[in-house]
Amino acid sequence: MIRLLIVDDIASTRENLQKLLSFEEDIQVVGLAGDGKEGLEEAHRLNPDIVLTDVNMPVMDGIQLTERLATEVPGSPTIIMSVQGERDYLRRAMQAGAREYLVKPFSHDELVAAIRRVHQLEQKKGVTVMRGDGQQGQSSRPAEVIVLFSGKGGVGKTLLATNLAVALSNETQSRVALVDLDLQFGDVGVMLNLDHSRSITDVVDAGEGLDADVLNEILAQGPAGVRVLLAPISPELADLVTGEHVRAVMNELRKTCDYVIVDTPCQLEEFNLEVIEMAQRVVVLTTLTIPAIKDAKLSLKVLESLNIEPSSILLLVNRQDGHSDFNRDSIEQNLGHRVAAQLPYDARAVGEAVTRGAPFVTLQPEAEISRAVREIVGLLVPEPAGAAAGSGAGAAVAPDKPRRRGLFGR
Ligand SMILES: Nc1ncnc2c1ncn2[C@@H]1O[C@H](COP(=O)(O)OP(=O)(O)OP(=O)(O)O)[C@@H](O)[C@H]1O
Ligand SMILES: [Mg+2]
Repeated sequence: MIRLLIVDDIASTRENLQKLLSFEEDIQVVGLAGDGKEGLEEAHRLNPDIVLTDVNMPVMDGIQLTERLATEVPGSPTIIMSVQGERDYLRRAMQAGAREYLVKPFSHDELVAAIRRVHQLEQKKGVTVMRGDGQQGQSSRPAEVIVLFSGKGGVGKTLLATNLAVALSNETQSRVALVDLDLQFGDVGVMLNLDHSRSITDVVDAGEGLDADVLNEILAQGPAGVRVLLAPISPELADLVTGEHVRAVMNELRKTCDYVIVDTPCQLEEFNLEVIEMAQRVVVLTTLTIPAIKDAKLSLKVLESLNIEPSSILLLVNRQDGHSDFNRDSIEQNLGHRVAAQLPYDARAVGEAVTRGAPFVTLQPEAEISRAVREIVGLLVPEPAGAAAGSGAGAAVAPDKPRRRGLFGR
């Protein structure tokens, strides 16, 4: 039974929600509250599995409530309800630790699905915490590095990198960092609507003084607890960043995180290649167009020349819409590599996500494209974190790779 506390300042909304949920056999509304302060008191008293809360409320709003619960009653996570257009709320809610965000008006099915999903995730997390044997979360194993790569621009690397980071954090409850190595035109910050006052340029300024604490100050706080290293605010600053800086950043992040996801530009910059060599997983993206497939072939060749294990390469097809002359079989034949997963073309979900600056896995978790991202998380982390002995960060780590032969004769 999922025990739920409903917090909303409008009495009729509370009652409607309660009625709506009374038909669900696995959900029990254990309490109702009219503002955040009352919600917090009730949460302390009732210890609900989930707190379903409105954002705009007198005395204490839903964001403050989420923040207070995260520290005071961590076993009672929130699902936030808000009306369309409250974009800033969405960002703040996610940063405060809300697990889901429902945009009013939402359907009965959406509500119930969100409640069940959050409950399932919390249970998984509970199992992880209960293990308490040091094999998960605080693992001393360095983080697994996952690099997104494609020879062709505009195939969806950044879109996938942002959604993958959030989904990975949500699904595995592990520490995830996202690094935007598209130094000239990186748009991770725009896709996640992040404050751009700090970026990799501050890493340059820190010089040799860069350590875990300094880096922590530089990282932006993304949704679902994902820490983000943003690209410089303008392209000319990109030249200041050297391979040395990138190496220092990656070394620090590998010590303090479970997963580091790296978004890259299409150019084969020296430090992109280095990060690829450091990676346990390389995600190669293509779409179903002839130029993209040609470039995917070249990308796979580059990876081969870097001695990257084929088993650590995940080939993904994006924008699958059923109208192409190519299908999975013909791509696999053409590229000589198995297609691990496909992401559907979804102008609506992607459009909304890009416009609102929030991941579609959060805005529309039930959309087919969000399911596809969760499927990719499953491929990267084959078992739920903590489920198998010795798993957790690095569960999918490929064996140590031999040094590269040298691309372009290096
Ligand atoms: N599955 C999809 N469905 C609908 N639109 C998509 C999909 N994938 C990508 N797009 C669109 O393509 C645009 C480009 O995606 P994105 O910026 O992630 O590509 P990229 O590979 O990072 O490009 P670049 O190489 O220029 O950095 C997105 O803003 C989005 O509008
Ligand atoms: Mg990009």
